[in-house]
Amino acid sequence: MQGIKILGTGGYLPKKKITNEDFAKIVDTSDEWIRTRTGMVERYVSDGEPTWYMGLMAAREAVKAAGISVEDIGVIIDTSVSPDYYTPSMSCVIQGKLGAVNAMTIDVNCACAGCVYAIDMAKRYLQTDENIKYALVIANENLTKITDYSDRSTCVLFGDGAAAMVIERSESMYSSFLGADGTGAKYLFARSIPPANAFMSGEGKVDDEFPESNQHYLYQDGREVYKFATKALPNALTKAAEKIDFDLNELDVIIPHQANVRIIETAAKNLGVSMDKFVINLDKHANTSSASIPIALDEAVRSGRIKKGDKVGFVGFGAGLTFGAIIFEY
Ligand code: ACO
Repeated sequence: MQGIKILGTGGYLPKKKITNEDFAKIVDTSDEWIRTRTGMVERYVSDGEPTWYMGLMAAREAVKAAGISVEDIGVIIDTSVSPDYYTPSMSCVIQGKLGAVNAMTIDVNCACAGCVYAIDMAKRYLQTDENIKYALVIANENLTKITDYSDRSTCVLFGDGAAAMVIERSESMYSSFLGADGTGAKYLFARSIPPANAFMSGEGKVDDEFPESNQHYLYQDGREVYKFATKALPNALTKAAEKIDFDLNELDVIIPHQANVRIIETAAKNLGVSMDKFVINLDKHANTSSASIPIALDEAVRSGRIKKGDKVGFVGFGAGLTFGAIIFEY
């Protein structure tokens, strides 16, 4: 079977940490509400660090851990939904600063499922182009810049941070299942700036079906996304396992997207898989969108929780609505 090997991981967290109590000072909330409804306790927030910088720091660490030369990276895939620029892409900016002169660069916008999509893309490049020796996946998020700090239902949920991984091809087991339901796009979004030019009359204006939202900030219908997430998580993992006739109980570790501990508990119950297998770090990081799985991976690798040869599952779900799972040997 054509699979992947993650050669090295790296991470970057801003120095600034915000607790639930800090939110209770700016909106009508409490530590108790946030803990019991989400499992979140604290999160790191950018204190001015741009998205590219966090990604670059994580990428450098991943390259060092992998023990490779940056010139040998053939493709860089960046998964940020909170980039610094409309253009150029985050992957291009980081490629230049990293000196990865032989890498082509792609950004993917799949929100919290982004890392799973990016790894699957990397695997396909590695599989079909023998000139690509290593892929670098970077997940760097600055969600707090698109967070509305007057909206208690969303502002407590998000944090910032980055992680990266160097991937090479291998002959080990691998399966993936990716998907989307674009009819749910209106449940979780952040607007870009509206059309405006010197010649505009406004006659071409077309309304979308998205609800009113505050400027470019994240809007979420929490209940709808919750319903989607509790189905998407077990469904994606199950479908990925079925493709290779694999029993999910054989997984050593599952890293789910860190959106809400209740979503993970419900999914574990529905899957009949022990909660012990799930890596959970949302108490320390809250939801860092596409960076949440890679940050948890980097921590799990560094703490020794994930070891070479372990059977690992990643599962993400988020805005789009998108979902995806991969199963592979670490
Ligand atoms: N503090 C206190 N009360 C609050 C807060 C808060 N921070 N936020 C909301 N409330 C209130 C609401 O106003 C509501 O009050 P009301 O009943 O008087 O109207 C009450 O709490 C219940 O609100 P719900 O939205 O029903 O709360 P719920 O238990 O569903 O929890 C949450 C909300 C945590 C957002 C949950 O719905 C959730 O986790 N949704 C899924 C999130 C997710 O998976 N996102 C996907 C990825 S994110 C990405 O892609 C970027």
